[in-house]
Amino acid sequence: MNNDEEKTGILLVTFGTSYERAQKAFDNIERLTRQRYPDTEVRWAYTSDIIRAKLKEEGEHLDSPVTALAKMQDDGFTHVAVQSLHIIAGTEYGEVAEAIRMFRQGSRGFDEITLGKPLLASYEDVEKVSTAMLEQVPEQRGQDEAVVFMGHGSHHPAQLAYPAMAAILKRLDRNAYLGVVEGEPGIEDVMRQCRQAEVKKIWLIPLMSVAGDHVHNDMVGDGDDSWKSILEENGFECEAVVKGMAEFDSIVELWLDHLTRVMPDGTGNQPE
Ligand code: CO
Repeated sequence: MNNDEEKTGILLVTFGTSYERAQKAFDNIERLTRQRYPDTEVRWAYTSDIIRAKLKEEGEHLDSPVTALAKMQDDGFTHVAVQSLHIIAGTEYGEVAEAIRMFRQGSRGFDEITLGKPLLASYEDVEKVSTAMLEQVPEQRGQDEAVVFMGHGSHHPAQLAYPAMAAILKRLDRNAYLGVVEGEPGIEDVMRQCRQAEVKKIWLIPLMSVAGDHVHNDMVGDGDDSWKSILEENGFECEAVVKGMAEFDSIVELWLDHLTRVMPDGTGNQPE
């Protein structure tokens, strides 16, 4: 495209949520993004087809990454930084990368389009996130009480970020553990470690951007299969922090540091 007029935009891409109460996590991301880039328009896209369809039924419209980028093209943007708000560089992140590729070349191409990495994309990220999340543990937690972070999990190779984080958490806090809802390490694995450490009480904290369906059902739900129910059934006392990671400014800033790394600088370079 040969536009005289340059127009830069930011596209924030998340899995999405249909939980109204979870929206405050996204509001916090938007607030901090605008704070860092006050002169740049910020737009959103949701990668989950199911969430978008569900919201549509409720009369709310959210774009997929491809649709959001096509609209930005129509609206005259020449430079776009896309920031993945996913936790790992898994399937959803891959879909965003693929969408971006379609807008790199040809008549639909932007002058510059870049993609910021998800939260856990390097060893350094995992250390920073582990430290920042341990700072969110409630002060009432006693020395011998465990903290168990609940991640989503995946069957994508990028899921190795979870056991990596579990190892780093353990190094920072001898009673900090990490499990995931889908895949390994699961709740049984976490429980085995807690038994070995003779832990009596466990604090559950989500390792997910928003406190949506997984947090309200899989973590603290009343059903027999929630982590809280399973832990209590197995004799552990249990408390939970029902907050998404994006409600914590220190975590959002780490996502935004990834955005800053790929913010178009007018050189046409496409860092990735
Ligand atoms: Co899920």
